[in-house]
Amino acid sequence: MIDYRNFNEDFSLAGKTAVITGAASGIGYEIAKMYARKGADVVSFDMHEAKDLGDYVKEQGRGYLAYVGNITKTEDIDACIAQTVEKFGKLDILVNCAGIGVVESVLEHDEDLWDKTIAVNLTGTVRFGRAAAKVMKENGGGKIINMGSQAGIVALDGHLTYGSCKAAVIYATKQFAMELAQYNINVNAISPTIILTPMGEENWNNEKGVEFKKKIPARRFGYPEEVAACAVFLASDAASLINGANLVIDGGFTIC
Ligand SMILES: NC(=O)c1ccc[n+]([C@@H]2O[C@H](COP(=O)([O-])OP(=O)(O)OC[C@H]3O[C@@H](n4cnc5c(N)ncnc54)[C@H](O)[C@@H]3O)[C@@H](O)[C@H]2O)c1
Repeated sequence: MIDYRNFNEDFSLAGKTAVITGAASGIGYEIAKMYARKGADVVSFDMHEAKDLGDYVKEQGRGYLAYVGNITKTEDIDACIAQTVEKFGKLDILVNCAGIGVVESVLEHDEDLWDKTIAVNLTGTVRFGRAAAKVMKENGGGKIINMGSQAGIVALDGHLTYGSCKAAVIYATKQFAMELAQYNINVNAISPTIILTPMGEENWNNEKGVEFKKKIPARRFGYPEEVAACAVFLASDAASLINGANLVIDGGFTIC
């Protein structure tokens, strides 16, 4: 019998095993570090080496596994999950954070860029989620957190491909949640405004960004740690009745 009422009020992740895709940079990197501070063992899945992440996680007294792979390859996803289960015996949390940012318009459209972006941001997210859910079902439950975006909620200039992916990720989150709730698996999305990561800085640390900030009621962009805090809460036992939600962290941008 699960004790839903006596959850840890500090949102502890002690004893949990978390796979974080895109953990080598930006939001995923901060989530991985905060998860370790909250007591989780961390598995990094990324195309790139995750710099000092392994040392950091071990300094927190937590276990660490790095898998360098491509989210568009099913064999990489399966191998990462198999290694996670082999090393830690289970998989409790998946954060689907790997993604690429592209800017293009309806009339200036690049078919190859569309295909590549869909493969990483949408198909990769869905495939990793499905593979993780199969293990979580056997474990008796788990949490999946998908990275959406404000661009998946409202139309933004130049965001045809990126926004389409993120809108689909927000939809897929609901579909996963509906089907998997019976297995004690929670699936939620987080949709940030512009976050000051390498991706955010590259696209928005310019005149366009100054203008954009004027449209955000809070008049600022976000920090990766602020998104990581949302990901801690959604992964914690305190969030067990939250399913299919899209937690928007945008300083109020999408309410206007
Ligand atoms: N930064 C923002 O402003 C912002 C806003 C809203 C949503 N997001 C979303 O948050 C997530 C993280 O963004 P970020 O700003 O931290 O980006 P980032 O570029 O700093 O990090 C993304 C990571 O994903 C990895 N990655 C990319 N393609 C991959 C692939 N095919 N296989 C494995 N790994 C791959 C990269 O190597 C990188 O480490 C993305 O899904 C992004 O769409 C970002």
